[in-house]
Amino acid sequence: MIQTLKKWLVGYSEEDEQTEENETRIGELRKGPLPRHVAIIMDGNGRWAKKRGMPRVAGHRAGMKTVRHITRAADALGIEALTLYSFSTENWKRPQDEVNYLMGLPEEFLRTDVDELVERNIRVGMLGDRKNLPDHTLEAIDKFKEATKDNTGLRLNFALNYGSRSEIIRGVQRIIDDVQSGKLDKDALDESLFGQYLYTADLPEPDLMIRTSGEVRISNFMLWQLAYSELWFTDVQWPDFTKESFYEAIEDFQRRSRRYGAV
Ligand code: FPP
Repeated sequence: MIQTLKKWLVGYSEEDEQTEENETRIGELRKGPLPRHVAIIMDGNGRWAKKRGMPRVAGHRAGMKTVRHITRAADALGIEALTLYSFSTENWKRPQDEVNYLMGLPEEFLRTDVDELVERNIRVGMLGDRKNLPDHTLEAIDKFKEATKDNTGLRLNFALNYGSRSEIIRGVQRIIDDVQSGKLDKDALDESLFGQYLYTADLPEPDLMIRTSGEVRISNFMLWQLAYSELWFTDVQWPDFTKESFYEAIEDFQRRSRRYGAV
């Protein structure tokens, strides 16, 4: 009864609950090497809505449900981190009503999903520049972080007002500050230390990057961190991306041979 009411009110559903078939597939996938960190460019919401004669924001709303399903799937697989490109530094160029809608999604997701995330031991984080984000969006993110801060399971990161080039420049500026203040010796700087100046300092680099909707670009997403990631592209638009699509990406990852430049 409660689930039915929740489904009707907020689109929450238990459809990801474990069927025997799903359990078997998860069991099979867990036998192979799993990516520790999966990063996703969730693309195609606007086109998905347009195809259905709906406003673009309806695509984002449907996309938020996909966020829920993929989070559950990543959690069930035992993946360490899932990073979702939710709003780029370039997305401010969109119509104001669409920007406003996107800025409201963290609050909506907080309202509908925080209890489940806490229950699943998931820890929520944000990658990106807090500057320019509206207070209500930051408050929702901060509430998420606070509610889940002691959780030790999946790290669910929203890349919000995120741009990789500006992340790198910000990192370089902080390095210069540390060198000038004597906190850092310039000669001690190496790739691993540089990584500590990025938003992802405490995360493993993504092993797998997925982009939906048929676009084959990186779009200023984790340029440093994706250096050795496996890339997986699908024509499926984000609102139609299912846990089965996610499993397919993981299966493909498991067939790849990662050599990191060696033979
Ligand atoms: C790209 O599709 C998608 C986005 C810019 C936003 C993605 C955000 C979500 C799916 C929700 C995130 C949820 C939370 C809780 C923050 P597009 O609009 O560029 O699609 P198009 O290329 O078809 O126009």
